[in-house]
Amino acid sequence: MSGIRLDIGFMAVLAGLTLSAAGPAGAEDGTTAIAIQTGKSGPRIERDIFGQFAEHLGTGIYGGIWVGKDSPIPNVRGIRSDVVAALKAIKVPVVRWPGGCFADEYHWRNGIGPAAKRPATVNGNWGGVIEPNSFGSHEFFDFLDQIGAEAYLSVNVGSGSPQEAADWLEYLTSSSPTTLAKQRAANGHPAPYRIKYLGLGNENWGCGGSMSPDHYVEEMKLFSHYARDLNPALAEPMQRVAVGWGDKDSDYTEAVMKAWPGDHWAWSVEGLSIHNYSLGGKWPPHLPGNGFGEEDYALLLKETLDMDQLIAKETAIMDRYDPAGKVGVMVDEWGAWLAPAPGSNPHFLVQENSLRDAILASLNLNIFMRHADRVRQTNIAQLANVLQSMVVTDGPRMVLTPTYHVYKLYVPFQGATLVPVEFDAGHYRDLPRFDAVAARDAQGKLWLAVTNIDPNQAGHVVVTLAGTSAEAASGQVLTAPKVDSANSFAAPDTVAPKPIDAAVKDGKLDLVLPPKSVAVLSVR
Ligand code: AHR
Repeated sequence: MSGIRLDIGFMAVLAGLTLSAAGPAGAEDGTTAIAIQTGKSGPRIERDIFGQFAEHLGTGIYGGIWVGKDSPIPNVRGIRSDVVAALKAIKVPVVRWPGGCFADEYHWRNGIGPAAKRPATVNGNWGGVIEPNSFGSHEFFDFLDQIGAEAYLSVNVGSGSPQEAADWLEYLTSSSPTTLAKQRAANGHPAPYRIKYLGLGNENWGCGGSMSPDHYVEEMKLFSHYARDLNPALAEPMQRVAVGWGDKDSDYTEAVMKAWPGDHWAWSVEGLSIHNYSLGGKWPPHLPGNGFGEEDYALLLKETLDMDQLIAKETAIMDRYDPAGKVGVMVDEWGAWLAPAPGSNPHFLVQENSLRDAILASLNLNIFMRHADRVRQTNIAQLANVLQSMVVTDGPRMVLTPTYHVYKLYVPFQGATLVPVEFDAGHYRDLPRFDAVAARDAQGKLWLAVTNIDPNQAGHVVVTLAGTSAEAASGQVLTAPKVDSANSFAAPDTVAPKPIDAAVKDGKLDLVLPPKSVAVLSVR
């Protein structure tokens, strides 16, 4: 089983840290030692690593975010206030919109102007339901303003044109008196909007047009060149994100990077995407979201750890063309994709969210942080009511998922600086038993996140700080009675964080982590 320890060490080596392959050995009494290398530091953990994804899919937008101005559900300009309050609490840095597959059939002009005049169209990817276009560009940016997040806009490469995308960018970002900018002002927003990221298509190897890698690159160059950000007030230029690795296939990554850096004047990209869902080994998604046992728990978590190797492989390809690491990896779709919840419309991708998803989220966020030298942005799929969501709504009701709580626990890691940790991951079946990440925030405070994957055994962890004595550690831990424990409207706090404190002995912290738990502590 030493391979497990090597895996964890391997992740850290790839992140440019100073971890040994095995870390300090676990003591014979079953305790695990975590040594925080307080004198060293790794890369900055970009806030955008904790980003979200909201697609016109099922009730992800309609019902989950947008209820309309006349709704009895409390809202501000049509955007539901309970969801806004929940998202503000997790400090969502960025939201990717309008898709997903939906992006490559979205025509932005349908979503501007007086609500009554917007056309009803068909959402061809997701059940052929009517798309009312009530939530369009202005509503998206209003939503971002309300939650305090940046925009990641995906333009339609599959069924749109470079001209349509260029017009959308001019409409949104121009401050000159062009006809499109005046139209934006007439529609209620005289000031140009800020777009932080621009997605150049979505899964164009699949739902985005089944393009060969070379065909995609030729199309992508046109969008990269013509879809210009015209906002002169931008401190940082908009970052363009090309489609990269997906469906376990590296062809797009190779093709895009081979063409990069392009002609600085004509086109370029600043990011390359990865999509990677945890499915339980095979398509279609079939693992139940509740009523499952330890087998399914371990299966999904083992698969999710593949994210580390996927990022390593994408990065290795990118390094050949871009050794300076200018192009960022954007994991702009990830998470658990399970069987549809019983009784739900299978096209709406509704699944039950459990404690297992929270553990899965922590493992992926830890992987992203360890790769923070390249991974600059990620977007979990999806924000509301779809796949591994943050919130579930039903009419006026809203409940926070276990995954939401992990995002809340991890807020201190946003914008912090990675601090290397050494530890023996141990083993639970053919997985590591523990995972751990440390970081120092802008105020100099040290944070430690530890996950105990083992669903049966509590973990006794002893934490040391290199070159200094630890004085105290306190924080919160997320766990629940069963691996499939979930929150519901009737019992919203079944999976909710509780306080956890470490005992201090001889300058070391002594922690007992419940089985199947995620803890985040501030350490002094
Ligand atoms: O997130 C659901 C779908 O998964 C997205 O629309 C698509 O990009 C991916 O295949």
